Amino acid sequence: MKSRLSGLVLALAISLCALPASTFVVAAEPAAATARTVLVIGATGRTGREVVVKSLEAGYRVRALVRDELRARASLGSEVTLIVGDVRTDEAIAKAVEGADFVISALGSNVRNDPSNTPELVDYGGIRRLAEKAAESKIRHFVLVSSMGATHRDHPLNRMYSNILTWKLKGEDALRVSGVPYTIVRPGGLTEARGGEFLPMMMQGDDLSRQGRIARADVAAIAVAALDRPEAMKKTFEVIASNATGQPDWATLFGSLNADAK
Ligand SMILES: NC(=O)c1ccc[n+]([C@@H]2O[C@H](COP(=O)([O-])OP(=O)(O)OC[C@H]3O[C@@H](n4cnc5c(N)ncnc54)[C@H](OP(=O)(O)O)[C@@H]3O)[C@@H](O)[C@H]2O)c1
Repeated sequence: MKSRLSGLVLALAISLCALPASTFVVAAEPAAATARTVLVIGATGRTGREVVVKSLEAGYRVRALVRDELRARASLGSEVTLIVGDVRTDEAIAKAVEGADFVISALGSNVRNDPSNTPELVDYGGIRRLAEKAAESKIRHFVLVSSMGATHRDHPLNRMYSNILTWKLKGEDALRVSGVPYTIVRPGGLTEARGGEFLPMMMQGDDLSRQGRIARADVAAIAVAALDRPEAMKKTFEVIASNATGQPDWATLFGSLNADAK
C-alpha cells in the first residue's frame, strides 16, 4: 500500500515537473479536427508569436497573416497555416479572414525601420480593413492589442512615431463601429519576461498616472483567454502586471470591467 502511494506521489511530481515553470492557463480545449480557427495578425512579432503559442496550447487551429513566409515558418513552426500578405492590401485581408472564427491582432507598424509602413496605414488602415472584413465574414470575436495612452494626443510616443497612439485610437474606433464582437487590450510597456508570474492588473480610463509594464507572454495569454468569453465582449482596458502572484480567474477579471459606452 505504502509503495503504491509513493508511486502515485512520484507520478504526480513528474507530471508537475513537466509543466512549464510558469504560465497562465488560458483555456482547456482539446485540439481536434473540429477546433476553431484563430487568425493571428502580427504573428511574426514579439507579442504575436506568443499569441500563436498560447492559441495552439489552448487547442485552437492557428492561421497567420505574414509578410515573409520563410521567416514566419522558421519562427512559428509547421502547425500554423500561413497566408502571405500585407495588411495594407484588401486581397491579403480577405484571404486571411475567410473561414476563420476569431481574430487576434498584435499588429504594429515600425515606421523607423520602414518609413512607408506608417501608423496611419497599418495601426489604423490595417485594423479598419480587418474589422470591416471580419464583420462581413461574421467573425465571432476580434481581440485587438492596442496601447496604453491611446487617448493621449500629447503623448511623447506620438511625436516619436508619426502619431502612432492617435492612429491606434482610430483603429480601435474602427473596430468598435464595425459590428464585430470585440475586446481591446491596451498594455503598458511590453517586456520579454517569461510571463505567468504576476497577475494582470486591468484598469479603465487610460489614466497615465498608473503606468507599468507587462510581459508580452501575459498580454498574449489575456488575448487568448478573452476569446469567445461573454465577460470580455465590448470592453476596452489597460493592463500592466500587478505584484500579486497566482493563476488568473479570467471570468472575474474580465467581468469586473465596464463595457464601452459606444
Ligand atoms: N513596445 C511596447 O512597449 C508596446 C507597449 C504597448 C503596446 N504596444 C503594441 O503592442 C503590439 C505588439 O507589439 P510588439 O512589440 O510585440 O510588436 P512587433 O514585435 O513590432 O511586431 C509587429 C508585427 O506586426 C507585423 N506587421 C507590421 N507591419 C505590417 C504590415 N504592413 N502587414 C502585415 N504585418 C505587419 C510585423 O510583421 P513583420 O515581422 O513582417 O515586420 C510583426 O509581426 C503593437 O500594436 C504595439 O504597438 C507596444
